[in-house]
Amino acid sequence: MDFSIKACDWSKGGEGSFLTGKSDCVVVGVFEAQTLSGAAFAIDNAIGGAIARVVKAGDMDGKAGSTLFLPEVTGIGASRVLLVGLGKQDAFGQKAYGDAVRAVWRAILGTRIAQVTFSLAQLPVKERTSDWGVRAAILALRNETYRFTQMKSKPDVTPRALKRVVFSVDAADDKPAKLAAKQAVALANGMDLTRDLGNLPGNVCTPTYLAATAKKLARDWKLKAEVLGQRQIEALKMGSFLSVTKGSVEPPQFIVLHYQGGSAKAAPIVLVGKGITFDTGGISLKPGEGMDEMKYDMCGAGSVLGTLRAVAEMGLKLNVIGIIPTCENMPSGNATKPGDVVTTMAGLTVEVLNTDAEGRLILCDALTYAERFKPAAVIDIATLTGACIIALGHHNSGLFSKDDALAGELLDASREAGDPAWRLPLDDEYQDQLKSNFADLANIGGRPAGSVTAACFLSRFTESYPWAHLDIAGTAWKSGAAKGATGRPVPLLAQFLIDRASA
Ligand code: BES
Ligand code: MN
Ligand code: ZN
Repeated sequence: MDFSIKACDWSKGGEGSFLTGKSDCVVVGVFEAQTLSGAAFAIDNAIGGAIARVVKAGDMDGKAGSTLFLPEVTGIGASRVLLVGLGKQDAFGQKAYGDAVRAVWRAILGTRIAQVTFSLAQLPVKERTSDWGVRAAILALRNETYRFTQMKSKPDVTPRALKRVVFSVDAADDKPAKLAAKQAVALANGMDLTRDLGNLPGNVCTPTYLAATAKKLARDWKLKAEVLGQRQIEALKMGSFLSVTKGSVEPPQFIVLHYQGGSAKAAPIVLVGKGITFDTGGISLKPGEGMDEMKYDMCGAGSVLGTLRAVAEMGLKLNVIGIIPTCENMPSGNATKPGDVVTTMAGLTVEVLNTDAEGRLILCDALTYAERFKPAAVIDIATLTGACIIALGHHNSGLFSKDDALAGELLDASREAGDPAWRLPLDDEYQDQLKSNFADLANIGGRPAGSVTAACFLSRFTESYPWAHLDIAGTAWKSGAAKGATGRPVPLLAQFLIDRASA
């Protein structure tokens, strides 16, 4: 898919080339008020009033998300016009824009249209600029066209007709829109990687597969990849991580990926992703229903790889390190048992009261490992707790941090990227729930505030740097008929890094 940006002033009649340039379709918006403006007005004039006539006839009432093709138009270079309803003009915000854009792509993808001219990014969206509109449109299109067919014996090979989209923007927005288009493509490519890794089954996407993916990323994007195996993990004394992999025959891997876009001396941002390639619960075995979805328990790891891919393609000027502890959580005669006490890399001992609370056990050692990079900030990303889904559902990721400035930056990035997160508490009072009679701390804190006590556990290993934790249990994938990975929170993380790189 090819995206390009062209400046266009519709009040000057669309500056010739936009009206005469050949394309299969030009997309224009119609508000409910039914007075045509901007692109709709200019194109209506050029095609002899056909838009005004269908509006007057009631065939396009401007209701949000409605679409109508005007085929075989004459007077402009495009052979069709696609009208999309935008709803009420004074209520036109990012949600209405997103709905309109989605309706447009769905309508167009159902046809043989190959080349589109897209004018909606020039519409006045509340609190948003045109470059935002370009980015949102590209991401929506890439989301509509994403398919996961790798595991089908006969993948659907019907080629997509749509090849090229030209966005019209005001002359003043030309430069930021071009940057937004480039970044949106990089972001979509990163999200696709994250989604593919999540959607792959546990028998394909193993720890070894994640390590091979990291090495390939390093080759393709000039990153540096280090992969530590069982022996090296033992040498680092990561007793907590090792206790989780014990029941599995798949070898664990500890992946470290370096992106250096800043000066060698600049402190890196470290992203730590939970990489449980399948979570059976271990000896504290999960119930069978829906257990297949625990192949998604490596989505934190997938989001780290996807974010690094996006950052590398964007060429951001900062240093980022991705750390991924990855293994399976399996029951076996070898597996860790409830009540076992393990020693973390940090030296703290942990009583494993429930082997299904394994994410924190692999993350704590990775968080200790991160200290050696003297990071500017560490963010871990994990499908950590079912309790987070109970608290926030599937809309917001859970954000935990004791650092108000860092939490604020992440919340700002989440809003800017349309990848929402909600801050949950991390008060020291909750630490009491992690008391153990036999070790320094327990790995579970009971049912109350389960996602908070999980974050509290991690906080014990993050005292030497600014740290935030994202619980993506509810947002990393969708269940039901549309089951599939979402690619979240790659948009949030990439936006955070874009903001840090330009700060
Ligand atoms: N990977 C799960 C969390 C999870 C469950 C994410 C369902 C998404 C959907 C995690 O390892 C886990 O099993 N957590 C337990 C913790 C409990 C034993 C304290 C949970 O949430 O039940
Ligand atoms: Mn678990
Ligand atoms: Zn898990």
